[in-house]
Amino acid sequence: MPSLKRAGAYAAGVVIALSAGLFAAPLAMAATVAESGLPAFTIAGDTIPEPLTAQPGSAAAGKLVIEDRKLGNCLSCHAMALPDEDQGNVGPDLHTVGSRLKPAQLRLRVVNMKDVDPLTIMPAYYRVDGLHDVSKAFAGKPILTAQQIEDVVAFLSTSTTTGAVR
Ligand code: HEC
Repeated sequence: MPSLKRAGAYAAGVVIALSAGLFAAPLAMAATVAESGLPAFTIAGDTIPEPLTAQPGSAAAGKLVIEDRKLGNCLSCHAMALPDEDQGNVGPDLHTVGSRLKPAQLRLRVVNMKDVDPLTIMPAYYRVDGLHDVSKAFAGKPILTAQQIEDVVAFLSTSTTTGAVR
């Protein structure tokens, strides 16, 4: 009975979302964020000052994550200096975002834009707790890995005033 099975998975998701909600308030006051299964990182102001990985991000790898419709899918909402024809304008234009925001600021925005704007529609790319209606296949996994976050940050931080297509 597929419909019953779906309802069960949905109910489990709600319980997870509710219990995450119970812990959300004390967590929000702490500077260090430790979510189930993900290494902890520290938020300071509107930044995550330290890289999430020891290996530095690669802008070339970040470009692929950004363009991949099944990974970042960033171009569905943002325009960037990339050759893809199908670029969205729901979010701000990111051609020169590396001139406006430091890598530490970019890191928090890609990890979890909701920390900057709680009402944003941008997905949190490195978060597993407090998500709603997550299918079983994705439960407990962030959309991007820590290395992919660093790669995306590397691409964005090298997207500066020239805005040249890469
Ligand atoms: C569903 C649409 C959507 C998707 C997908 C999306 N974003 Fe966003 N993004 C937004 C919106 C809307 C904002 C504006 C912030 C707000 O909502 O307050 C934003 C803001 C940003 C900002 C801050 C820009 C600024 O000028 O302050 C960055 C950086 C960013 N997004 C990067 C990304 C990257 C990288 C990806 C892919 C990994 C991505 N976004 C995917 C909608 C999206």
